[in-house]
Amino acid sequence: MFRPMQTRTFGRLGWPVSTLGYGMWGLASWSGTERDEVDRALEAAVAAGVTFFDTAWGYGRGASEQILGQLVRAHPERRLFTASKIPPKNLTWPSQRGFSLDDCFPPDHIREYTEKSLEALGLPALDLMQFHVWEDAWARDERWQRAMDDLRREGLIRAVGVSVNRWEPWNCLETLRTGMVDAVQVIYNIFDQAPEDELFGVCQTLGVAVIARVPFDEGSLAGQLTADSTFPEGDFRRIYFGPENLGPTVQRVDALRGALPTDVTLPEVALRFSVSHPAVATVIPGMRRVAHVRANAAAVARGALPSPVIGALRTHRWDRSIASWSL
Ligand SMILES: NC(=O)c1ccc[n+]([C@@H]2O[C@H](COP(=O)([O-])OP(=O)(O)OC[C@H]3O[C@@H](n4cnc5c(N)ncnc54)[C@H](OP(=O)(O)O)[C@@H]3O)[C@@H](O)[C@H]2O)c1
Repeated sequence: MFRPMQTRTFGRLGWPVSTLGYGMWGLASWSGTERDEVDRALEAAVAAGVTFFDTAWGYGRGASEQILGQLVRAHPERRLFTASKIPPKNLTWPSQRGFSLDDCFPPDHIREYTEKSLEALGLPALDLMQFHVWEDAWARDERWQRAMDDLRREGLIRAVGVSVNRWEPWNCLETLRTGMVDAVQVIYNIFDQAPEDELFGVCQTLGVAVIARVPFDEGSLAGQLTADSTFPEGDFRRIYFGPENLGPTVQRVDALRGALPTDVTLPEVALRFSVSHPAVATVIPGMRRVAHVRANAAAVARGALPSPVIGALRTHRWDRSIASWSL
């Protein structure tokens, strides 16, 4: 049965965005992508009421942005919200302590890549432009603030976001307090619960929208991994699910599976966990298949998980530190 997609308010911007958004990294950069199926998945998402789409120049050097632009132009009847990201000038993910604003986001680079993104999208403006890595040490540097403000006043972007580095939800708090940032994109899932410690409260106080990314821990919480999983050269998951991480991840997913009620699937619980916190405006799973779009739309329609289930999932929190393989 078709149910209209729930919307939530995107922080102080007030945009009514779909609770289920769409992550557009994998479709331009991961192995196993079939373009026809991706096109059908995107259309299925629009049909299901998805209105928030997250891309980046870094996803295939503009390839993902081109796909999003085509989708938006094909649906002039729908208000589809577009979010992209400026790559760091040194093309190093994540940023590291000691990287300067000049290393990553000097003002001319901010403008150059905003123009590149708009060209790839084929659109006159972006709703949200995010920094693709971030260091809170840059918070008070007026150069990024002025550069983004100029882009906003010129109508090239409507809002400013920070995509905070993996497992560092604290690494943007001072920046949010400048009042210059409208949205934060952060990893938030059953394993990675640390955004609840401090970030979400700050966002709620300031009216900063939260975009919950990587709800499936890059696929493990969607039940896609076994101890023998391998990925081809060039696929990010070959590094992320390498020898140090694959075994411990599979063990934890097995433990989680064993604790779930029999009438729910792991992907459903994982996705509903990410939308259960009221600070979250939208969750953006990567989805390259129609079946995944439909399953995820149905899961989000079932709403927040009951508190006892959330309580039980607390024990599956997994705090990790940045490693050479974690990007
Ligand atoms: N630094 C950053 O700013 C940054 C970093 C990472 C990600 N992101 C953003 O966050 C988005 C989401 O993260 P992600 O794509 O890396 O990882 P993710 O959403 O945690 O996982 C994506 C994986 O889950 C699978 N999946 C989705 N729905 C499923 C379902 N119902 N059942 C089974 N499997 C399902 C997908 O399969 P299929 O693809 O086969 O459908 C894909 O393999 C990205 O696309 C990107 O927009 C941003």
